[in-house]
Amino acid sequence: MSYQRPLRLGMVGGGQGAYIGNIHRISSRLDGAWQLVAGAFDVDAERGRAFALTQGIDSDRSYGDYKEMIAAELARADRIDAVAICTPNFTHYPIARAFLEAGFDVICEKPITATLEDAVALEKLTRESGRFVGVTYTYSGYPMVHEARVRVAAGEIGKVRSVQVEYPLEWMATAIEQQGNAQASWRTDPKKNGRGGSIGDIGTHAYHLAGFVTGLKLESLTADLATFVEGRALDDNAHVMLRYQGGARGLLWSSQVALGNSNGVRLRVFGETGSLSWFQEQPNELVLAPLNGRTEIIKRGAEDLSEDAKVRTRTPPGHPEGYLEAFANLYAGFAEAIRARRSGREPSAIGQNLPTVYDGLKGVAFVDAVVDSHEATDQPWLTPIAV
Ligand code: NAI
Repeated sequence: MSYQRPLRLGMVGGGQGAYIGNIHRISSRLDGAWQLVAGAFDVDAERGRAFALTQGIDSDRSYGDYKEMIAAELARADRIDAVAICTPNFTHYPIARAFLEAGFDVICEKPITATLEDAVALEKLTRESGRFVGVTYTYSGYPMVHEARVRVAAGEIGKVRSVQVEYPLEWMATAIEQQGNAQASWRTDPKKNGRGGSIGDIGTHAYHLAGFVTGLKLESLTADLATFVEGRALDDNAHVMLRYQGGARGLLWSSQVALGNSNGVRLRVFGETGSLSWFQEQPNELVLAPLNGRTEIIKRGAEDLSEDAKVRTRTPPGHPEGYLEAFANLYAGFAEAIRARRSGREPSAIGQNLPTVYDGLKGVAFVDAVVDSHEATDQPWLTPIAV
C-alpha cells in the first residue's frame, strides 16, 4: 500500500453554536480520509475567525467569507480539495456555484437549494463543470440501510407494493423561533428555508431514504400540509400519499411537532413475499418478515451481510454504531468518489451508491410538488363524509 494523503477540506458555515457543521467535522475525520484545513465558519466574520482558532485552523486559512476563501485557496498549491457547505438553505446555491466555478468539488447540505430553479441550475452547472457534488442525505450512510437496498434489489421481498416512511421530530412543537432559537428562526422563514417547512427540512430525508432503498421512482403525489404552531409561516407537519412508477404506493409523514419523537426516522417496505423495516433509533438492526411468518432480526456486523453493508461497518456486532458513523460513511464515500475520478478509475464499493447533486435536485423537486399539491384548489381527494 502506498501513502495516501488526506483530502483537504474547507468548510462554509458550521460556526460557534451551529448544529450540522460539527457533525461534518467529526465524521470527516473518522477514517483519516479528510483533514479540515480552512473555513469561513460564520456569517459574522469576526465570530468565524475566533471559532476557527478553536478548531486548529491556521489563521491564514480562516476567512471572513466564502469569496475571500475561494480567492485565497486558489492561490495556494496546497488548496482545499473540496468544500463542505453547512449553512442555511438559501445560501447553498450561491456558495456551491462559486466553488464549482472556481474548480472545487463540493459537499453540500440538504436541501441543496431553497428553490427548484436554483436546484435545476446547480445540477446543470455540476454536469457542465465535471466536478463532484455530494449531498449529505445522512440516512443513506447507515450500513443496514444499504443492506435493505441490496435485499430489495435482489428480490428478497418480491415486487414492492407499499412504502411507509416517516421522519417525526418534536423540537419545534412550540414557537421557539419567536424566542430566539437560531436554527428554528431561519427554518420558519420561507425566504431562507424554501417553500417546504417540515417537508423541506426532514421530508427530503424521508423521500430520499425511501427511493434509495426501494429503487422506485416517484410518479405523482398528493399532499396535506399543516401548520400547527400559531404564527409559523411554513408547514410543521406533512402527510404525503405517493404513487411510484410500476404501481407501488407510499405514505410519507414528516413532522416537527410530534411530541415524543426525537429523530424517529422509520422505513417499512412491503413486497409480495416479505417486508423490511428499519428504525434509526435501532440502526444496527434490520427486520425481515417473510411470508412464512418467521420474522428475522438481521444484525449489523453479521458475517453473511452484503459487501455494501460490510464496507460501511467498523466495529464487530454488539458494539453499537450510529449516526456519526453513518455520516462518516458518506464522507468516506465522497473521498473515494473524488479520488477515483481524479485517477480515472471506478470507485470501490464505499464510493458507490452515494447521494449526489441529482438526488439533491430530486429532493427539491419533491418539496415543490408537495407544496404545489397542497396549494392546489381542486383537491378531489378531499371528499366530505356523510355522517
Ligand atoms: P445553524 O443555524 O445551526 O448553522 C448555520 C451556520 O451557518 C451558522 O454558523 C451561521 O453563522 C453560518 N452561516 C450562515 N450564513 C453563512 C454564510 N453566508 N457564510 C458563512 N457562514 C454562514 O444551521 P444547521 O441546523 O446546522 O443547518 C445548516 C444546514 O444543514 C441546513 O441546510 C440544514 O438543512 C442542514 N442540516 C442537515 C442535517 C442532516 O442530517 N444532513 C441535519 C441538520 C441540518
